[in-house]
Amino acid sequence: MQGVTVVDHPLVQHKLSIMRKQETSTAGFRRLLREISLLLGYEVTRNLELTTTTIETPMETMEAPILEGKKLVFASVLRAGNGLLEGLLDLVPAARVAHIGLYRDHETLEAVEYFFKAPSDLGDRLVIVVDPMLATANSAIAAVEKLKERGATNLRFLCLLAAPEGIERFTKAHPDVPVYTASIDRQLNEKGYILPGLGDAGDRLYGTK
Ligand code: URA
Repeated sequence: MQGVTVVDHPLVQHKLSIMRKQETSTAGFRRLLREISLLLGYEVTRNLELTTTTIETPMETMEAPILEGKKLVFASVLRAGNGLLEGLLDLVPAARVAHIGLYRDHETLEAVEYFFKAPSDLGDRLVIVVDPMLATANSAIAAVEKLKERGATNLRFLCLLAAPEGIERFTKAHPDVPVYTASIDRQLNEKGYILPGLGDAGDRLYGTK
């Protein structure tokens, strides 16, 4: 699928299988999501631009590669996005963070923003939007819209699992935003859950239900 990268690294696939199991504990799920986000983060940042700076090693002067441009932004779609965010911040500790809270209006079925906090200069930064489940894509589409309204132009979307229906809707709405995922599962069910999936990512991460 164009614009979609499936991270098929064996460690990612192995960890994901354990996360899917219904008997995996909240603590286990949380730890695995943190571990897997490091590996997904590695892929989503693979082609970041580099520049060089002059440094002194104990031996001599060299031109050393460093990341170019302003610090990137991880934009977490609350609340499950925070599970991916933790590991990504281990990987890129200097990254800036945006939080986006959305709920679904029961009458209009539209995603309504209840919280938005982001660096003011989004237009100057790469923004990596994180939400573990790309299911109907309603919240992912809305989150990217909200970021674009505030000036973001260079975005990527990172999730753990995606449904084919969600990918189709998302890439149609935002063809300029590449998607990274560990798996494209079979389908959505009538309630908007991914099959075979892993259940409700937020509940599994926080032990709610
Ligand atoms: N959100 C989840 O947490 N799980 C799904 O299967 C779909 C959306």
